[in-house]
Amino acid sequence: MGPTDVPLALHELRGTDDGASGLPLVLLHGFPLDGRMWADVAEALPAGRRVVAPELPGLGGSPDGEDVARRVGAGEAPSIDTAADAVAETLRAHGIDRAVVAGLSMGGYVALALVERHPGLVAGLGLVDTKSTADPDEARANRLRIADEVLAAGSVEAVRGMRTTLLGATARAGRPDLVEKLDGWIRDQRPAGVAWSQRAMAARPDRTAVLEGFRGPAAVVVGAEDELTPPAAARLMADALDDVRLDVLDGAGHMSATERPAEVATLLDALARRADQA
Ligand code: MLT
Repeated sequence: MGPTDVPLALHELRGTDDGASGLPLVLLHGFPLDGRMWADVAEALPAGRRVVAPELPGLGGSPDGEDVARRVGAGEAPSIDTAADAVAETLRAHGIDRAVVAGLSMGGYVALALVERHPGLVAGLGLVDTKSTADPDEARANRLRIADEVLAAGSVEAVRGMRTTLLGATARAGRPDLVEKLDGWIRDQRPAGVAWSQRAMAARPDRTAVLEGFRGPAAVVVGAEDELTPPAAARLMADALDDVRLDVLDGAGHMSATERPAEVATLLDALARRADQA
């Protein structure tokens, strides 16, 4: 962990002790999870590149969303923009002002907001099991209902079912260890952080046009069995991007980084190398 006076907690997953260089790789986690979900990917990456995982407001070791918003001078309403501003401030405090940024699902929503709000920071963009469109009305209402429910119950029980729905059918059937791992990560989250994140995601705009303006290298990765942000959503993002590689991973679901960390690491490493050379 780095300085304590920054908006967000940040895991330093890989350093550059061997003296190799290249742009840092920033990994943004999904919901309702934290930076630990990137550990296996970080381990599978070749040595020599700095890899960091900031934790989004209210999740993992990061302060509650309201405190983060105050710290970055944002309004009270939960917002993916606030999360993006806090990520940017945290990265700068850790000496990172240009990086390859990859986000899974909610992390992807934050990555898109970073491209829009802090374009100089994002040298390369990795979009893993995520989408650029806003929520339909029904999904938005469901998020707000869940936010109310976790706060009223003082428990994250209402999102525990995501321990299976985040996974693809193949992992659900054959990887009980992953179901257990996800359950542990979900149960570690705070109801306030779960509620803040749901409200922030409910309020996010369509950012497909942001992709159309992005000029750096991009990688879009999706599990063929992703039921939450399916391959069609990935294709829509890839179509909007200029310099993009799209990979669909057979047998993987929404948590491709947890289900298939070695392949995701290979794809993100290739992205980072493209960004190094751009
Ligand atoms: C995630 O994995 O971050 C969530 O499924 C995102 C979402 O609920 O849209």
